[in-house]
Amino acid sequence: MTSLLKNDLLLRALLCEPTPRRPIWLMRQAGRYLPEYRATRAKAGSFMALCTNPDLACEVTLQPIDRFPLDAAILFSDILTIPHAMDVGLEFEAGEGPKIARPVRSAADIDKLKIPDPGHELRYVIDAVALIRRELDGRVPLIGFAGSPWTVGTYMVEGGGSKTFGHIKRMMYESPALLHRLLGVLVRCTIAYLNAQIAAGAQAVMLFDTWGGVLTPAQYEEFSLRYMQQVIEALTRDADGRRVPRIVFTKGGGAWLAKIAAIGCDAVGVDWTTDLKTARAAVGGRVALQGNLDPSALFAPPDTLRSETLRVLESYGEGPGHVFNLGHGITPDVDPQRVAVLVETVRNYVIG
Ligand code: CP3
Repeated sequence: MTSLLKNDLLLRALLCEPTPRRPIWLMRQAGRYLPEYRATRAKAGSFMALCTNPDLACEVTLQPIDRFPLDAAILFSDILTIPHAMDVGLEFEAGEGPKIARPVRSAADIDKLKIPDPGHELRYVIDAVALIRRELDGRVPLIGFAGSPWTVGTYMVEGGGSKTFGHIKRMMYESPALLHRLLGVLVRCTIAYLNAQIAAGAQAVMLFDTWGGVLTPAQYEEFSLRYMQQVIEALTRDADGRRVPRIVFTKGGGAWLAKIAAIGCDAVGVDWTTDLKTARAAVGGRVALQGNLDPSALFAPPDTLRSETLRVLESYGEGPGHVFNLGHGITPDVDPQRVAVLVETVRNYVIG
């Protein structure tokens, strides 16, 4: 596992160390916009079958790396592997997103949850991490990830995706202690899970807080940020003789970037609703920033896509500490050739 890393731009930029150009990777870079992904998924039979098969998870993790000169690979998996391992009856129905057969809404439901052992119920993820590290052979670093306790909790309490978050918000107002109990359980699972990913070879880790932005500022601190801080504080700091940078991304968290930067993470993800210049002023150089091209810019004609990409690069300004990414995941209807244009534009931009 101590193979030499040929391209460590991501790890350096995440720690605000100087790099000759800005690294780029893309949220959901392995996914349905790639025909080779669709073929492997068809071979697997279902999304969960793909996630639980380390050989196939490794194959799809490498697909975007083989196609584009990206600066990082991200483990192919999902934030819902933890609830899946807790036996809440997770299924992905084609075109409908995740569904949870046994939502968690009472103290009895929480007490019934199995605490997954990463080396057992989540072994397939840990095996995938080790295999991907081996197959990458030091080409680029591997990012491991988990959902934030709050975001994973929304799926568990709602029983799937939601627009209003009615069940979990009702719980938050009616019985906050119950929600704190669930989040406490999720913190323990997430720490064990991410530390197992690091031990197996993940060289950076990211917390996806996709739904933190639906909270009020006070609720965000109490029910999302505080739990992410507990996770961050308990993560293994070094592996393979190098720091393992930690990225925290709250979608819709533009107003709270300074607070996020203060929890001990190395980098903060920024969605497309906040200008990077504003974001940089907010975090005051304490952390690196990751983002934040509007994912829909990938629908633009190439010239417009190039100028939108340059706008993001320039809005960060001079100096180290920027990892280029989208403000959220690539959507399935994107033309892979546009992704090639984006990656080329970022690679050709010499750092100011
Ligand atoms: O970035 C990557 O390339 C790594 C893979 C990755 C997936 N999910 C694969 C996936 C990552 C990092 C995730 C995280 C994830 N999963 C999040 C947080 C990030 C985000 O996008 O906000 C969330 C909220 C989920 C939960 C989830 N998984 C939903 C709501 C869905 C259905 C919606 C959809 O896009 O279809 C999934 C399924 C999923 N996870 C797919 C992929 C490629 C599509 C499944 C398929 O192939 O049919």
